Amino acid sequence: MPEPKSKPSQLHTELRQATRDLHQQLDQQIGQFGITKSAAGYARYLELMQTLFEWAEPCIQHVTSSVPELAFNPPLAQFIAQDRNQLDIPDGPLIPIDIITQYPSPQTAGAHWGTVYVLEGSSMGARFLLKAVRDHFPEDVPHHFLNTLTQDSQTRWPLFLESLANADVNSTETVEGAELLFQLAIDLAGSAPPTP
Ligand code: HEM
Repeated sequence: MPEPKSKPSQLHTELRQATRDLHQQLDQQIGQFGITKSAAGYARYLELMQTLFEWAEPCIQHVTSSVPELAFNPPLAQFIAQDRNQLDIPDGPLIPIDIITQYPSPQTAGAHWGTVYVLEGSSMGARFLLKAVRDHFPEDVPHHFLNTLTQDSQTRWPLFLESLANADVNSTETVEGAELLFQLAIDLAGSAPPTP
């Protein structure tokens, strides 16, 4: 018999409710990149994710110091750079990454966990994007990042949620951390010039 799914922790339920509208807004903005229509659209998504992972690096360090199984080794940013370099697009930023200077680094343990919640959760959308990229692009389009982010997500996500439920964090600070990362992503995605 399959193991019954464990009940969502109260903190997970709070995070999900607080960020539902933000997720929807981001989803729509990413939809406008045209990820499967052109290399430039796909590269915008990669650049968005690279900026988020780099900005959140101190938060990732904090969480993986107590849950080492959640560390990506080598870091995901390396796979993103590899994919981007293999795409036939001009050098230079496609989204206004300077925006991150307006977003203070999270300081509290809760905000670190809330930030990593959003990045770990992004692996679920990435499963759909990986399929879309494989279906729509010629077979040689690089997808090391999407592969790596999604390959263990069926075990990573429950592990992350269990670790979150056991973490000694303030729930308000955790929700604020998750909202901040979503706001940063929306700000970056919404300020990107339209894909040519
Ligand atoms: C077009 C792109 C995306 C699509 C289609 C998408 C789709 C999804 C889907 C289908 C789920 C599972 C929802 C469920 O089981 O109830 C999910 C969960 C999630 N996604 Fe996305 N997503 C996208 C992009 C992103 C990005 C870029 C981020 C963050 C940077 C993100 C953060 C999350 C989070 C945090 C969850 C977990 C929600 C929970 O607690 O269950 N998603 N996404």
